[in-house]
Amino acid sequence: MVRTVVLNIDDKEVRAKEGISILDAARKSSADIPTLCHENGLDPYGACRICSVEIEKKGRTKIVAACCYPVEEGLKVRTKSPKIDKIRKTIIELAAITAGEGLSGEMRLLASKYSADLSRFRSRVPTESTKCILCGLCIRRCIEANWDSIIGFAGRGVNRRVVLFPDRSGICSICNYCYDVCPTGRISSIGPSPHFPNIDNVTAGRE
Ligand code: FES
Repeated sequence: MVRTVVLNIDDKEVRAKEGISILDAARKSSADIPTLCHENGLDPYGACRICSVEIEKKGRTKIVAACCYPVEEGLKVRTKSPKIDKIRKTIIELAAITAGEGLSGEMRLLASKYSADLSRFRSRVPTESTKCILCGLCIRRCIEANWDSIIGFAGRGVNRRVVLFPDRSGICSICNYCYDVCPTGRISSIGPSPHFPNIDNVTAGRE
């Protein structure tokens, strides 16, 4: 039988099933935690960190990703504070480096909510605008739809990118399942194509 734990979210007592994430528990208690790389039904990935919250356990505090951190008995969670707002603001500003001008409405709303300066790091970090924040949502959707990944990550650091695995392109069912999930509009901007011609092809480097 699944146990129920009692925790405290923004000074409210919340009962939640053991094993669920802070994000799910917080949403049940109407707390507003933004997400970019999370979608109900897909495994949490913890890529964007926009869902950062502060937890207190045994008198010690730390920042964790709410979508990945499970609820615990007696946990104290703060979903908003000047410190958390500042973290989210910086995360959006960093995401804007690669997301470029073509930020989705969702990201623009978040930028406005947290007063993020989208050009803050762009001029200092000469990185190509890929319109991709590497959230991995399209890849996880692809795995769910096809039982395998036709697109995936390749490269490391600033060279990390989403690529099509050519040896697998034949199993693309053109389900377009990856299209509407992209928070920057990168995938849908490519247009309907079974083989995503504008995504780099790789023959090696699958990770
Ligand atoms: S939504 Fe939690 S890390 Fe992206």
